[in-house]
Amino acid sequence: IWSAVPAGPPDPILGVTEAFKADKDPRKINLGVGAYRDDQGKPYILPSVKKAEEIVRSSQPDKEYLPITGLPEFTKNAALLAHGADSSVIKNGLVSVTQSISGTGALRIGGAFLARHYPHSKVIYVPSPTWGNHIPLFRDSGLEVRFYKYFNKETVGLDFEGLKADLRAAPEGAIVLLHACAHNPTGVDPTQAQWGEISDIVKERKLFPFFDMAYQGFASGNTTKDAYAVRHFVSEGHQIALSQSFAKNMGLYGERVGAFSVTTASPEEKARVDSQLKIIIRPMYSNPPLHGARIANTILSQKELYSQWEGEVKGMADRIIGMRETLYNVLTNDLKTPGEWGHIKSQIGMFSFTGLTTPQTKALAEKAHVYMTADGRISMAGLNGNNIEHFAESVNKAVRG
Ligand code: LMR
Repeated sequence: IWSAVPAGPPDPILGVTEAFKADKDPRKINLGVGAYRDDQGKPYILPSVKKAEEIVRSSQPDKEYLPITGLPEFTKNAALLAHGADSSVIKNGLVSVTQSISGTGALRIGGAFLARHYPHSKVIYVPSPTWGNHIPLFRDSGLEVRFYKYFNKETVGLDFEGLKADLRAAPEGAIVLLHACAHNPTGVDPTQAQWGEISDIVKERKLFPFFDMAYQGFASGNTTKDAYAVRHFVSEGHQIALSQSFAKNMGLYGERVGAFSVTTASPEEKARVDSQLKIIIRPMYSNPPLHGARIANTILSQKELYSQWEGEVKGMADRIIGMRETLYNVLTNDLKTPGEWGHIKSQIGMFSFTGLTTPQTKALAEKAHVYMTADGRISMAGLNGNNIEHFAESVNKAVRG
């Protein structure tokens, strides 16, 4: 039956982990997938998460099905984290929100919802480059994916003029996907002033903003600061769609905790959107998993635990910032590696877009057992005091050819 099924390529990001696992060299380093590691290179369970798990366990909760849109306290608190308690859409009960299978699931529900109910367009503009999975994800949701300029290779920074020109040229009503903070893969974010200009263009062109916020807290170490773009757009009167993930900021990767929400114009409209989200989700996976949402909700709802968690997010962000500093110093000062490496320090979030070419990334995997995505993106969190020398020396060799 399956003789005509063609073999597909490995996933550009998760396939890197497979290649890394197959490598038996003790010096190997995985900088592919964006998953935080501690300074010993080990997966990190946040102490606040451990405490929350204890609290959940001691309450001896049942294992009943959640409602289709998930744990209501969790979704309420997720929306609050994104928008802030002062937000008019929170105060007026205008956020239609559902739990999701982490960020990807949120984007997929969003894609399906927009494909079915957004009246003005089936076209979504994503930045070039963007997280690789955005493209098949939105295509599979029934949207047409187009690109807007984002990254300038020459300046290794934001191509703001290109971005503005492309958004201005987008057909009226098109959907535009915006990375709320810690842009993946480039680590380059617009400034607050630039977000202001983007908001104006989105308004002028009547575009529909869909924010992907997978790294709230990870960019700056501050969840409020990282929510700036989302909150600014809402305060400017935009209705938005929003995908949230708790994979990175709570380290709940495999627990698959996220939320998808849309802001609506009235409580009555919200109720109708709520009903349609259920209709989309029920035949997809019926209802979401319990455990991770309970953990996240315990953290979000208990004041002390929440403050502890905020400190831990900052701790992760700071360790990454420290690694950027060290890597820059080793490449520039110690090894005098040809090229300009200032972007390693200026980029933010989980990733650095190194500028390494695909052949260089291949050589690094084959010769130095250093794994990263083919576009030269490295997960900064995979670096630590024990492996940074090997990494920097290997990059130095790869760059010198
Ligand atoms: C990444 O970009 O590495 C992460 O968002 C993990 C993933 O699912 O791709």
